[in-house]
Amino acid sequence: MTYNNISLGQEGHVATLTISRPSKLNALNRATIEELHQCLSQLEQDREVKAIVLTGSGEKAFVAGADIAEFAHFTEKQGRELAAKGQEQLFHFVENLAKPVIAAVNGFALGGGLELAMACHFRLASDNAKMGLPEVSLGVIPGYGGTQRLPQLVGKGRAMEMIMTAGMIDARTALDYGLVNHVVPQGQLLPLALDLAQKMARNSTVAIAHAIKAINAGFKHTVNGYETEIDAFGACFATDDFVEGTTAFLEKRKANFPGS
Ligand code: COA
Repeated sequence: MTYNNISLGQEGHVATLTISRPSKLNALNRATIEELHQCLSQLEQDREVKAIVLTGSGEKAFVAGADIAEFAHFTEKQGRELAAKGQEQLFHFVENLAKPVIAAVNGFALGGGLELAMACHFRLASDNAKMGLPEVSLGVIPGYGGTQRLPQLVGKGRAMEMIMTAGMIDARTALDYGLVNHVVPQGQLLPLALDLAQKMARNSTVAIAHAIKAINAGFKHTVNGYETEIDAFGACFATDDFVEGTTAFLEKRKANFPGS
């Protein structure tokens, strides 16, 4: 299969999957999500592949978010569907993949980009990386699992602060928060990711698959926060604040929220 928005490499038993829309800072549009799903499904079936590194093309961004231009005119129903389908196709899919997926965060990981990194089994960052969930500055909330996975990784208070301020944290702070496991200069990021992936590839693939399943099981609760997130995300699309927030981004100006 040929892909337009991602590229795939392989070294030994380790596949490197690169999101490649550099002119849009690798923003996740639906076509990219679809391609990532297809490619990860194939890699999961491929017995030669034992670990996967996920990164972004270029030196500036891992992924700068969901593609704002694509969803700016969505209705509440379309917003709900965007979140529900994305969660199922990519974010839950990555988290539950039977092979280790390491995020190599090589620059901005914002919104859907940080959500994707958080769905991976763990994260490494280059020292120029910046992370955040800026959705409320657009009049919307994280819809790809961010309201659930960020508190799991950094604790509720830090997640509340990050989500409500819409701010970015640098790589050192992300390390301090436990959001990433290692921070290295950009040139060392992929070598470190490959080294760790190769170490994992020498272990039992069957046991690793069971370990992933068991660790993830500890985070499943009776109230489904992901569904609550989808409903709340969809509801934002019916607000004037959402129209103002996304329009202001696309018009490259500061938003002036009407508060309704
Ligand atoms: N969706 C769609 N397009 C995006 C995007 C996104 N999430 N993030 C960046 N882009 C596009 C820009 O619109 C611009 O396209 P253009 O050249 O056709 O105008 C291009 O990528 C380069 O981005 P630009 O904003 O010019 O780069 P910058 O260095 O000035 O700023 C960021 C970098 C990451 C701070 C800025 O792009 C940004 O704030 N992006 C949105 C982040 C966000 O809110 N993500 C959450 C979405 S839910």
